[in-house]
Amino acid sequence: MRKPTVLTGIKPTGHPHLGNYIGAIKPALEMAKNPDYQSMYFIADYHALNTVQNAEQLRTYTYEIAATWLALGLNPEEVIFYRQSDVPEITELNWILSSITPKGLMNRAHAYKAKVDQNKVEGLDVDAGVNMGLYTYPILMAADILLFQSDLVPVGKDQIQHVEIARDMASSFNHTYSETFKLPEYVVTEETATIPGIDGRKMSKSYGNVIPLFETPDRLKKLIFKMKTDSSLPTEPKDPKQSSLFTLYKEFAEDSEILYLKQRYEEGIGWGEVKQQVFNMINEKLEGPRAEYHNYINQPKLLQEVLHAGGEKAREKAQEYLQLIKQRIGVKF
Ligand code: TRP
Repeated sequence: MRKPTVLTGIKPTGHPHLGNYIGAIKPALEMAKNPDYQSMYFIADYHALNTVQNAEQLRTYTYEIAATWLALGLNPEEVIFYRQSDVPEITELNWILSSITPKGLMNRAHAYKAKVDQNKVEGLDVDAGVNMGLYTYPILMAADILLFQSDLVPVGKDQIQHVEIARDMASSFNHTYSETFKLPEYVVTEETATIPGIDGRKMSKSYGNVIPLFETPDRLKKLIFKMKTDSSLPTEPKDPKQSSLFTLYKEFAEDSEILYLKQRYEEGIGWGEVKQQVFNMINEKLEGPRAEYHNYINQPKLLQEVLHAGGEKAREKAQEYLQLIKQRIGVKF
């Protein structure tokens, strides 16, 4: 029997940071361990193209993502791990889906709408800075998902609408051409607690407050010691729920360690000591993966091989199904 497919894409648009790890990579790796699912994880390099328009930069981000996921324990024997651009069937399906997608549906997609709204506020042409890659982003994403008959799609909250659009497109195709596509479901991976960055706001590249995942211990320590805290004295009790440092600590520590630090907060603890403990914990947990990461990043050939092998597996699945789709629309006899 066919196992349900879990599929998700990772856009190579920046250096991986702690927020990515906690919010997306860690839960995805958990899911990948479940033997009841066929997991498919891919680097959405064509999706990155609407913002990353420098070849060297795109290659760097792609390698970094591949090295990061492998270093953190993704097993390419168990999970199909590939690059979107290695599977041309996806872009073929992209065209097919484009032809049946109403333009109005794309007008309503959040990312495009947000850009238009911002342009209006700034008094610019509504479509200033909008390329077709941004505008039709949801169509390519639907192709990613539908081509592999995905059952579950783990995404952050901001991507829910895209999975819903893929469902809409699938059912309208099915309505026109008979039952062909499976309707995917999204799974929200983002923790309810957002991961705070150095200034206490959500850790995000756009806020410039990130802690890169595989920094040297020295740099990591400096960044953790820069985390914003309040001005309470060491002897004053502190609320762990209000503390960014505690939020980070929780993601790496065992239950008993979390409980212990919570007690220390409640009794009163100096921020310097908290920072030292948070640093020790994160540094210890990332030591092994950091070494692995450097091992991989220094072997781009190996990374290419791993990704190409994954691409071949993905294509095998894609090709047969694309033939059926082509038959349904009348371009295959
Ligand atoms: N759009 C997703 C993001 O920005 C990445 C992505 C591309 C994706 N294709 C996908 C996620 C297919 C899930 C399924 O995070």
